[in-house]
Amino acid sequence: MVLGAAADKFGYTLEIDEQLIGGAAIDAGKAPLPAGTLASVIETGAVLLGAVGGPKWDSLPREDRPEVGALLPLRKQLNLYANIRPCKPHPMLIDHTPLKPEYLDGVDFIVMRELTGGIYFGAKGTDGLGAYDECRYCEAEVERIARKAFILAEQRRGKVTSVDKSNVLATSQLWRKTVNKVAEGFPDVGVEHVLIDAMTMHMLTRAQDFDVILTENMFGDILTDEASVLCGSMGVIPSASLSDGTPGLYEPIHGSAPDIAGRNTANPVAMILSAALMVRLSLGEGLMADSIEAAVEAAMTGGHVTADIGGPLGTSDVGRWIADYVLQT
Ligand code: IPM
Ligand code: MN
Repeated sequence: MVLGAAADKFGYTLEIDEQLIGGAAIDAGKAPLPAGTLASVIETGAVLLGAVGGPKWDSLPREDRPEVGALLPLRKQLNLYANIRPCKPHPMLIDHTPLKPEYLDGVDFIVMRELTGGIYFGAKGTDGLGAYDECRYCEAEVERIARKAFILAEQRRGKVTSVDKSNVLATSQLWRKTVNKVAEGFPDVGVEHVLIDAMTMHMLTRAQDFDVILTENMFGDILTDEASVLCGSMGVIPSASLSDGTPGLYEPIHGSAPDIAGRNTANPVAMILSAALMVRLSLGEGLMADSIEAAVEAAMTGGHVTADIGGPLGTSDVGRWIADYVLQT
């Protein structure tokens, strides 16, 4: 709806190819990541992804579940190693967070999460004694994500906070060494290293200090859920997963919220902002993205939002309000 309105406004025709993935694909009798979906995704310019899992599929073997059978191979196949998750609390949502306003005022950071390596993709299994998940990073993997973080920081406030567990983990020691090496090429960007355990605290006590937070796959997964608390709702944070030269993938950071599925109460803002990121970063249409983001801003400021953030509207009403705003401004 919103993308259609934005395309109309700017005189484009959007070609949208809808494909099944995850639980919806399984329910249709297909694999979690059907070959046709992967082929379409590789051919296309950009992918907008809905959440893939839910309790309905939790009893399937691990490798057949939507997360491991669809989302992770999709990220890997498209080589989407750079996951970007912004955190900038909207003033109207400050009352919705459990934190005092002085901790939220001026918070504006982006988490750059490594997305195709580490423990998520290492060898896993069970043996006679128990189970194992291997965590590996090679230097080139750290280097390319670090470079993306420094380039981003250069365009922002010039600071990278790299998060690791280098007091214990070998992969983290490589991480820190490699980040320092990349930092030498960016003399105007400051770099600070913080251990993940301390970082979970600093994110709540001095979130204003952060500009670009660079971290490996699992630490980034955990930290971005924590970051969503600063923003008042999981329902408002978009994400972009990028590579070099392959299509980008855009999705909200929230999951499928099975507890409210089908009730027309889910907050569509994270998905709409993900679409805006897609328009900006993959289609290169900055003005179109600005127009979608301005409409979301107007909806939030005017209270035309869903109940999770204190509004009276249903999911589709918010979508319609934002689409109308895009067309009328
Ligand atoms: C996320 C999600 C995924 C992840 C799950 C669904 C595999 O939590 O995108 O943050 O852990 O990366
Ligand atoms: Mn997550």
